[in-house]
Amino acid sequence: MSSLIFILLFISGADSVRTVSRLTVLAGGSVTIPCHYDEQYKPHVKYWCKGIWISCTSIVRTDSAQRKGDVSITDDPAQKVFTVTLSNLQEGDSGQYWCVVEINNGQDAGENLYLKVTTGTPDLSVVNNRVTGVVGGSVSVFCHYGNHLWGKEKMWCRSGDLSSCLIAGSSGTSQDRVHLDVNKTQGLLTVTVRELEKKDTGWYWCAAGDLQIPVHINVTEETSGSIDSTTTQHGKLIFDNTIIVLVVIFSLLFLLGTVAMVSWKLWNRHKKTQTERREANQSTSIKDTEYEVTYSTVVVKQEEILNNISKTSGVSGEEQGDRCGGGQC
Ligand SMILES: *[C@@H]1O[C@H](CO)[C@@H](O)[C@H](O)[C@H]1NC(C)=O
Ligand SMILES: *[C@@H]1O[C@H](CO)[C@@H](O)[C@H](O)[C@H]1NC(C)=O
Repeated sequence: MSSLIFILLFISGADSVRTVSRLTVLAGGSVTIPCHYDEQYKPHVKYWCKGIWISCTSIVRTDSAQRKGDVSITDDPAQKVFTVTLSNLQEGDSGQYWCVVEINNGQDAGENLYLKVTTGTPDLSVVNNRVTGVVGGSVSVFCHYGNHLWGKEKMWCRSGDLSSCLIAGSSGTSQDRVHLDVNKTQGLLTVTVRELEKKDTGWYWCAAGDLQIPVHINVTEETSGSIDSTTTQHGKLIFDNTIIVLVVIFSLLFLLGTVAMVSWKLWNRHKKTQTERREANQSTSIKDTEYEVTYSTVVVKQEEILNNISKTSGVSGEEQGDRCGGGQC
């Protein structure tokens, strides 16, 4: 029942979300896929899922978990496009995927594509999938196609808009500023865009037969200015880092110095106290000895006194001892 509902969900939004239909990517490589949507979906949550429409498993969403492993999602409401970047692609990643716009209390809108990851030469590939040019300048995009696409139409399209496609070799469809050149020997489609305008910034497709490969063209105001500003920023960053490192080093040195000084002072005080205590101990023992000496002197004196007493009383010590014998004394 839920599967059936799911089928209906995707069928409903067939035209409000647009993306490439088929693409091939070299194993180990990466690709960024643009998913275009209608104006009214700007505030909506977008997600990327894998599988056939009956069982599509969500991988990344714009509201949570925008990165999962080698997959990431970014929404650009201003351009009405969300992009999904797949990195480190393996053959097992081949399959059907969906660009989906979530619709609360309604049917989600989505568009599917087929991704093929190959270890051989991809049927259609682009040398640089991101190119940058300046206003008034020109850019060239090089798209390689395989042998079996020789007889197929080679096209250059504004991403997600099939009516914008220019077909190589056909007269009248080429715009003034855009030139398509096909070299059959090399299997190479070269697209050159001259007199670039700011509005040329965006996603495009190189297309051959039913295959497409996304390319992003970024048109900036001027080169020298932007390069200077990045250099300055970079320089400032390095400068800031140097200051931080120096401050940290000096703080550590200061801390070490303080610790060393405090320890030295404490050690000194400890030594002093120990010496004082030892001296104090020595003087106490000296006093004790003196006291004992005095005491023994007293005893000696007492003995002398006793002797004197016994002498004066005419009784000798021996006689006294005899008298006291038997415990009667
Ligand atoms: C195609 O490329 C080859 C090799 O670079 C070159 O020799 C040949 O002239 C090119 N053909 C055309 C029609 O431009
Ligand atoms: C285009 O290039 C400029 C300057 O390099 C950069 O700041 C900007 O983020 C780029 N825009 C896109 C969409 O890549």
